[in-house]
Amino acid sequence: MTNFNVRNNIVDHPDFVAAKSAIEELHEWQRESAEVSGLALVGPSGSGKSTVLKAYRDQFPPRDELTRRAIVILYVEVPSAPTVKSLAEAILLAMGATIPPGATGARLTECIVTLVEGCGIELIMLDEFQHFADGARRRLLEVSDWLKGLLNRLRVSVVLAGLPSLLRVLDVNQQLRRRFSRIVRFKPFSTAEMPDLETFVGVAQALMTDMPLPCANLDQVAFIKQLHFATGGLVDYMCKIIGGAYRIAASRKARFVDIADFSKAFRVHIWDEAPPSRDPFHRKFNGLPLTQTGEPFAEGL
Ligand SMILES: Nc1ncnc2c1ncn2[C@@H]1O[C@H](COP(=O)(O)OP(=O)(O)OP(=O)(O)O)[C@@H](O)[C@H]1O
Ligand SMILES: [Mg+2]
Repeated sequence: MTNFNVRNNIVDHPDFVAAKSAIEELHEWQRESAEVSGLALVGPSGSGKSTVLKAYRDQFPPRDELTRRAIVILYVEVPSAPTVKSLAEAILLAMGATIPPGATGARLTECIVTLVEGCGIELIMLDEFQHFADGARRRLLEVSDWLKGLLNRLRVSVVLAGLPSLLRVLDVNQQLRRRFSRIVRFKPFSTAEMPDLETFVGVAQALMTDMPLPCANLDQVAFIKQLHFATGGLVDYMCKIIGGAYRIAASRKARFVDIADFSKAFRVHIWDEAPPSRDPFHRKFNGLPLTQTGEPFAEGL
């Protein structure tokens, strides 16, 4: 079987380009005017938020200089159920710092302020920011207040990214909300209108660019619709089903990947227990999106 990793290809689809430009604009504005601002990037799981953040960060690799590590963009994953201490530690670890044993939250905060300035950080990305909204309200108020205070002390712009529930965090803190009033949304690809259908097919084609076997059915609207239902229009699931279908076709030594391979890959990689009426590749499929409770693309996941 020839090696094929569908995830090696980053596709410049419209939401990806829009999000990347918004981050770029924020960063350039900060560089030109020294004015700090913020941006919130929200979208469902698997829509590509972390991918766009990391793609932008990777344009500015850190440099080890004589006396310091120069970091332009700092990418931080917010820990689950964050506390002031665990979030401060995550920020320090992302800068490559060692955590002073037994340090209080206040001490860690001072370390962050010193290091952010020392490393020359211009932009901080806080991914998985919805974790703030997961815990108890009292803790949410405490941590968001700390974050607001920290950001006020740093001369950096900030991108928050996460599930749409992160907007609830901004709702409880007026000052944070003001700072992150610009919101960019990642939506699943739709097939409702012709241009949307073309975008979805274009992304599917781009993901298959290096696939060693051709896919015979991408010009068939019925197949495109099945593929769309099966993936919820989310790029992560598109990668899963395309990679899976290829491996199934290659292992049976086929000359091309066909609908039956996608149908099997759907069951292996997306929903093994789909009843016939909810399996987009089954003739009994009822034609409704797989967004009900307990289904792969249920709202609120
Ligand atoms: N623009 C893209 N081109 C190609 N593949 C992509 C793109 N965006 C995302 N992917 C694929 O989808 C996978 C999931 O994307 P990503 O982790 O960025 O989603 P997410 O929105 O951060 O999800 P979560 O909310 O669960 O963290 C990635 O591992 C990558 O393989
Ligand atoms: Mg992510």
